[in-house]
Amino acid sequence: MKTVFSGIQPTGKVHLGNFLGAINNWVDMSNIKNKNYFCVVDLHSLTTHPDPKKMEENILSTVRVLIAAGINLDNSTIYTQSKVSEHAQLSWVLSNFCQIGELQRMTQFKEKSSELGNHAGILTYPILMTADILIHKANEVPVGDDQTQHLELTRNIAERFNNKYGNVFPIPEKTSGKVGTRLMSLRHPENKMSKSADDINGTIYFDDSRDQIIKKFKSSVTDSEDEIRYDLEAKKGISNLIDIFSSIKGITHKEVEKKFSGSKYGEFKIEVGETVAEYIEPIFSKYKSLNEKEILSLLKANLDIAKSSAKETMKEVNGLLGI
Ligand code: AMP
Ligand code: TRP
Repeated sequence: MKTVFSGIQPTGKVHLGNFLGAINNWVDMSNIKNKNYFCVVDLHSLTTHPDPKKMEENILSTVRVLIAAGINLDNSTIYTQSKVSEHAQLSWVLSNFCQIGELQRMTQFKEKSSELGNHAGILTYPILMTADILIHKANEVPVGDDQTQHLELTRNIAERFNNKYGNVFPIPEKTSGKVGTRLMSLRHPENKMSKSADDINGTIYFDDSRDQIIKKFKSSVTDSEDEIRYDLEAKKGISNLIDIFSSIKGITHKEVEKKFSGSKYGEFKIEVGETVAEYIEPIFSKYKSLNEKEILSLLKANLDIAKSSAKETMKEVNGLLGI
């Protein structure tokens, strides 16, 4: 049986990129008999200095979305990162197995450091992510493409620790979605779709209505040609729409091109919008139907499971370190 770990930040509303890049895979993995940990990584979100008054609400809403998306709760432990202090402890230990230069070379660090105030948290972020993954000795990490580099670093850190102290950690593998694991903004297809509130028309949120979704797709930025063809260089907007359609329908880019050959961009946009609305609507209605008390009691029970697994690993690590 494999151990799976993945995380999501409670920094805003869950969006289509989260579903197609990560959460759909989490659902699949939870339906085969893995031991799954899905963590709301509030410590990571501190790098963006989020509003403390909204933290608890955002954490709960994220958990609710994960359940509504269909994660099989029988095989999964869903919990909040900061409640298991071993994440931060292991992160400190592992920071001694990572070069500053490696952290400075991370694309996400280069992209975000000046925007977020150039603090050390954004630099050491991937070490905390490494600790998240290794604290439960995960073998598989289902994440979107934007996290590939971080996972490579995780593997290197785990190998270095193992070389010094014996075979403690499995070397984790990245699990990717079937197609299209980096969704781009509908308005700025050169940027990835994200939770950030400054691009609400470029992002499809889990609670968008059908009308909002269709409107966002209708106004999505494409190009001046009129050919539905996958070309990430010359046709970023159309390629993104092809990615979305193929991911939800489970078909290849070529099959999408064939299906829409001769169609106008306008028709294609509406069809993709309708497909997305059909995908999002049941998740949002399930979200609304979930009972808050039940979620809280699930979180409490799951926290005990996460704590006991993390404590076991930390005990072993501390023993090896002689502390
Ligand atoms: P975040 O919202 O940054 O906490 O990301 C949670 C998960 O969603 C991670 O596995 C990310 O790789 C994935 N993800 C976030 N944004 C996108 C995107 N635009 N396309 C694909 N996957 C994404
Ligand atoms: N860094 C991830 C993101 O920004 C979130 C994350 C934190 C994560 N810890 C993790 C993902 C561990 C997978 C495994 O999306």
